[in-house]
Amino acid sequence: MPQVEMFPTLRQQIAGVSVVELARRFGTPTYVYDEAKIVERINDLRAFDVIRYAQKANSNLAILDICRRNGVVVDAVSAGEIRRALAAGYSPGGHPHGIVYTADIFDRDALDLVIEHNIHANCGSPDMLDQLGERAPGREVTLRINPGFGHGHSQKTNTGGEQSKHGIWHESLDECLLRADRQGLMVTGLHMHIGSGTDLEHLAQVCGAMERCAEQVGRSLTTISAGGGLPIAYHAGQSYVDLAQYYALWDATRQRLAAKFGHDITLEIEPGRYIPAESGYLISEIRAVKQMGANMFYLLDAGFNSLARPILYGSYHPMSIALASGESDPARVPHHEVVVGGPLCESGDIFTQEEGGFVCKRALPVAQVGDLLVIECAGAYGFVMASNYNSKPLPAEVLIRNETPHLVRSRQTFEDLVRGESIPQ
Ligand code: LLP
Repeated sequence: MPQVEMFPTLRQQIAGVSVVELARRFGTPTYVYDEAKIVERINDLRAFDVIRYAQKANSNLAILDICRRNGVVVDAVSAGEIRRALAAGYSPGGHPHGIVYTADIFDRDALDLVIEHNIHANCGSPDMLDQLGERAPGREVTLRINPGFGHGHSQKTNTGGEQSKHGIWHESLDECLLRADRQGLMVTGLHMHIGSGTDLEHLAQVCGAMERCAEQVGRSLTTISAGGGLPIAYHAGQSYVDLAQYYALWDATRQRLAAKFGHDITLEIEPGRYIPAESGYLISEIRAVKQMGANMFYLLDAGFNSLARPILYGSYHPMSIALASGESDPARVPHHEVVVGGPLCESGDIFTQEEGGFVCKRALPVAQVGDLLVIECAGAYGFVMASNYNSKPLPAEVLIRNETPHLVRSRQTFEDLVRGESIPQ
C-alpha cells in the first residue's frame, strides 16, 4: 500500500492558496479544508454499496453538502446532527436511508426527531427498542452489536469488548430480537463498529462476528454495516489500509449471506475520519518563542480549545511553518527541536505530547513571532471537539474550492460566548 513519504515542514500554500494570505484574510486560528481531498477520499470508497459518513468527525454544513453532492449518505448521533443533515439537504427516507440515527441512547430530543421525520434508527442498547417501539411500532430497525472485542488508535477510541458502553452485547442478540418482535419492530440491519483508527487485522475480525450474528437474525436482514474505523496516515512512513483487501473480505461475507437468505444484502461502510482528516489544516500564529532550560517553546494562538486530539489521546499531527518572509526552500531554513504549545492556562496545553501527557519535541524550521504554524491532518475530530475553554471563541472555518477560499463558519464573537447567560437581578 502507498506510504506517506514525508510531510513538509515548510508550507506556503494550501490547495493553491497562500497560507499567509489565508491568515491575513480570515485571522487565526482558522481551520481550512481542501474540498478536492475530501472528494478524493470519498472516491476511494466507491466499491461499497453505501458510503455513510459519520458526521461526528466534521459536521460543518459545507462538508455535509460536499458529501451529499457526491452520493454519500450520513449517520447522525444526536438531535443536533439530525438537524444538520436536514439543513444540508438530506432527506431521511429512501434506499439507502439518507440519515440513520446511531447511538446507545435516545435522548428525548433525538427520539422526537426520529419519530417526526421517520428516521431509521440503529439501536445500540436494548432499551432503545422499547422506547422506539412504544411510539412507532412497525418500524424497521438496525441493531448495533458489540461483538465482544474492539480496537482503536487509543484505548479511549476502542468501542468493543465488555469495557465499552457501545452496542448491544453479542450474547443479548436473541433477547433483542424477541424484544423487537414484541414491539412490532422489524430488524433489517446489523452494524458493528469496533473502534476508531484501528487496523486491517482487527477490522477483518469483524466479518466473522457479523456473519454469525446475521445468521441469528435470519432472512429479515437486508443491510450490514462494517462501521467506521479506517485509519489515515498521520506520520511519515505510515501506510494506508488496503481498501481493496478490506472490501474483498466484506464482499465475500455479504455474498455468503445473500446466498443463504436468497436475497441481496446491501453493504455499508461508515467512515468518519477517513473522509475529512487529510483535507483539514489548522492555521495558527506563533505568538511567543522562548527558551526554558533545555527546551525551546513555540506558543501559538491555538490550543487544546482549538484541537483537542493531542491532549486527549497523545495524538500526533504533522506540523509545518509558513514563514512571513515567504522563504520556502527547506535547505535555506535551519531547523531545531521545539515543543509546541497553546495559549491556555493549563500545562497540558501542548501539541507535541504523547499519550500520558509526556512532552516531546519536533524538528521544525526556526521561526519567529508572526510566522504561522500549520497543524495538518486536522480535518477530522478537530473543529467538532473544539471548546470555549478560557473564553476563547471557536475558530473560523474556510473551505477551498477550485483555489478559491470560502468562509464556511465565522469565528465566534464575544456576544456568541455569553449568549444565554444572565446575571440575576
Ligand atoms: N460509526 C460509529 C458508530 C462511531 O462511533 C464512529 C466514531 C464512527 C463510525 C467513525 O469512526 P472513524 O471512521 O472516524 O474511525 N475523537 C476520536 C475519534 C472518536 C470516534 C468516535 N466514533 C479521535 O479524535 O481520534
